[in-house]
Amino acid sequence: MRIQDIVRLFAALVVAVTASPLGSSTRHVVHERRSVLPHNWSKQSRLPPTAVFPVRIGLVQQNLDRADEFIDQVSHPLSADYGKHWSAEKVAEMFSPSAETVFAVKSWLHASGIEPSRIRMSKSRNWVEFNATTAEAESLLRAQYHMYHHEAGHKHVACEEYSIPSHLVEHIDIVTPTVHFDKKVGSPRRVQKHENLPSPILELNKRQLPAPHGLLGSPDDASNPKQGAAIENALMSLDNCDTMITPPCLQALYNVPPGSKAAQNNTLGVVEFTPQAFSQSDMNKFFTQFAPGITQTSPNTNLIDGAIVQTQNQSFSFNGESNLDLQYAMTLIAPQQVTLFQVGDLVSSASFNNFLDAIDGSYCNFDGGDSTDPNVDGQYPSNLPGGFTGPKNCGGFTSTKVYSVSYSSNEADLTSKYVQRQCMEYMKLGLQGVTMLFSSGDFGVAGNGDQCIDSQTLAFNNGSSGIFNPSFPGTCPYITSVGATQINNGSSVRTPESACERVIFSGGGFSNVFAMPSYQQSAVTSYFSNNKISYGADRFNNSQKVRGFPDVSANGANYVIAVDGKFALTFGTSASTPTFASMVNMINEERLAVNKTSVGFMNPTLYVNPTVMNDITNGGNQGCGTPGFNSTKGWDPVTGLGTPNYPAMLKLFMSLP
Ligand SMILES: *[C@@H]1O[C@H](CO)[C@@H](O)[C@H](O)[C@H]1NC(C)=O
Ligand SMILES: *[C@@H]1O[C@H](CO)[C@@H](O)[C@H](O)[C@H]1NC(C)=O
Ligand SMILES: *[C@@H]1O[C@H](CO)[C@@H](O)[C@H](O)[C@H]1NC(C)=O
Ligand SMILES: *[C@@H]1O[C@H](CO)[C@@H](O)[C@H](O)[C@H]1NC(C)=O
Ligand SMILES: *[C@@H]1O[C@H](CO)[C@@H](O)[C@H](O)[C@H]1NC(C)=O
Ligand SMILES: *[C@@H]1O[C@H](CO)[C@@H](O)[C@H](O)[C@H]1NC(C)=O
Ligand SMILES: *[C@@H]1O[C@H](CO)[C@@H](O)[C@H](O)[C@H]1NC(C)=O
Ligand SMILES: *[C@@H]1O[C@H](CO)[C@@H](O)[C@H](O)[C@H]1NC(C)=O
Ligand SMILES: *[C@@H]1O[C@H](CO)[C@@H](O)[C@H](O)[C@H]1NC(C)=O
Repeated sequence: MRIQDIVRLFAALVVAVTASPLGSSTRHVVHERRSVLPHNWSKQSRLPPTAVFPVRIGLVQQNLDRADEFIDQVSHPLSADYGKHWSAEKVAEMFSPSAETVFAVKSWLHASGIEPSRIRMSKSRNWVEFNATTAEAESLLRAQYHMYHHEAGHKHVACEEYSIPSHLVEHIDIVTPTVHFDKKVGSPRRVQKHENLPSPILELNKRQLPAPHGLLGSPDDASNPKQGAAIENALMSLDNCDTMITPPCLQALYNVPPGSKAAQNNTLGVVEFTPQAFSQSDMNKFFTQFAPGITQTSPNTNLIDGAIVQTQNQSFSFNGESNLDLQYAMTLIAPQQVTLFQVGDLVSSASFNNFLDAIDGSYCNFDGGDSTDPNVDGQYPSNLPGGFTGPKNCGGFTSTKVYSVSYSSNEADLTSKYVQRQCMEYMKLGLQGVTMLFSSGDFGVAGNGDQCIDSQTLAFNNGSSGIFNPSFPGTCPYITSVGATQINNGSSVRTPESACERVIFSGGGFSNVFAMPSYQQSAVTSYFSNNKISYGADRFNNSQKVRGFPDVSANGANYVIAVDGKFALTFGTSASTPTFASMVNMINEERLAVNKTSVGFMNPTLYVNPTVMNDITNGGNQGCGTPGFNSTKGWDPVTGLGTPNYPAMLKLFMSLP
């Protein structure tokens, strides 16, 4: 133990002994509460007091309150340390929970009858785990555990609120299993398999569950791109870009030359979730037409958590996303290559956390890379028929410097503590010089699948009314959120684009969780002072103190892709994201060529240099029974700062150290 740890530990001991008697007389405060059950779930019987399940406590990390300061140091163009990215070791050391935190939580457990020998710490020291009986968990957390049933037959152990001693609020982020249900309604994953546990948990794990709905990468994932008409002849001409976007259209629109460099270690990361998969024969068809030099090539492929690039199902809904992302990214950046991060086995459906565990071992909650919430995050080894039984991935994959992620969920699918924890991981990647680009969603101010939030019950509705439903990670202040634009009918690549209103509407709006980052302050303030926004607090958080999104945009309408053996049109911020990411990757090529570092987190630089973007001032992002917001002069919650003006962006980033 280091000296400073001992000092902290001693301080904690003093605080614990003098201020708060441990054990049952400690004052508890509610830590997380769920106000409404997710759709189609119902509460069933109380759990028997003797049932056993694994309880996990996510500890508060140190120095997160300084995140903005650190990010600005390496990402703000006026900082003396611009581009001086941190090592993974420095990041881990700066943010790992303090000895005081570890001690306070372990002391509480011990004083409450959980013997130290039952408690395990994750390697990263971010998580504490122990097996508890229902009676123990209920007493520790002042909670009532019930079994919940989903209409489709799934079961889940949860409570609707839980409390922790007031002196631990500053030490504990999150406890599972507790209140976390989410978008993964219908997920086959529940409590982990534990052979020796008494019923009902064992029974639960043996259930064979029906196919999931709407999970990341599944055919009905609402963040997938949307299919348009089949195309007989995919044209290379720039005369048809209003009805057919091809790589030459994008190069002309954004003034970006074909790729020419391929620095070692500068491949572009593209993340896909199984069963979404690229089809090599479709890739070849596309490249034959648009990039003859790379016909027959495949991305470098990283398989995470038993992933496979499946070939058994071939159709737009299984190949559309991967084909779109890879056909465009590989064509735009060639001769540089793309590295595919294919995440999750065929049956479990993985999450952003599974991906993050694989590229950053310090993020894993247990040595094997279990993620936080069994309802959202793929659990491995899997106990599902056909599931991945091998070791889980926790670290071990080399990170790329730019990621294109064309998947999103709703911020309201998840608890605020869950999204905050994940968002901070993107912040840590930013410190290490990584650019994370996420699609902003395809339903305007509504959420995935065109759902909004009922203002009375807070449940999702059919999208005709209610509270706007922002996307996640779109609202995380440490990622770059990419919205969609279109070339208007009859217009060309030489005339200004509008916000996308064809088939999809650019996801945008304001967070209900994240405060406004400092880099956005003046842009968002101008937006509100220059536009009279008629919606009230019943529609969105209009305090002007929260994170607005997207940050930028790129064309998202009428992309020609090869899929299922044919050319077809495709729509979505799913298309905008790899296009924008390809340009970021090319800027990194130029910086690396003169011995500069990657651009990393770009937002602080872009918001003070908005003129390197083509401002979009037409169109809106309707949803929830409203016209949504308008694209206007300056930043707006539809198309952000606008689309790339590549030569101007390049010049700006080359001028930085
Ligand atoms: C809820 O159940 C109904 C009927 O089974 C089904 O139509 C609907 O899609 C389900 N909704 C969700 C969000 O799963
Ligand atoms: C919890 O119980 C399971 C099954 O017996 C065991 O594999 C696991 O290691 C236990 N966890 C802890 C932290 O003791
Ligand atoms: C590329 O990455 C490998 C593996 O991480 C590393 O060993 C090598 O030094 C890197 N090369 C450059 C040029 O950064
Ligand atoms: C995917 O392929 C499997 C195996 O051929 C088949 O059983 C399943 O029905 C297919 N799923 C869909 C949605 O087509
Ligand atoms: C959506 O829900 C509203 C309110 O419940 C209802 O009036 C409307 O008919 C529904 N619309 C559709 C398309 O189902
Ligand atoms: C633009 O063209 C498309 C395809 O021809 C058509 O569906 C759409 O209605 C047109 N939109 C406008 C505003 O004219
Ligand atoms: C809106 O955001 C502000 C700043 O984070 C917060 O103080 C306020 O409670 C939020 N309003 C609502 C209705 O959630
Ligand atoms: C980049 O660094 C390498 C190795 O230090 C050096 O050989 C090369 O000349 C540098 N290139 C430029 C453009 O500064
Ligand atoms: C969008 O523009 C229309 C037409 O100018 C205007 O009536 C409306 O109030 C604007 N809406 C917002 C949210 O700015």
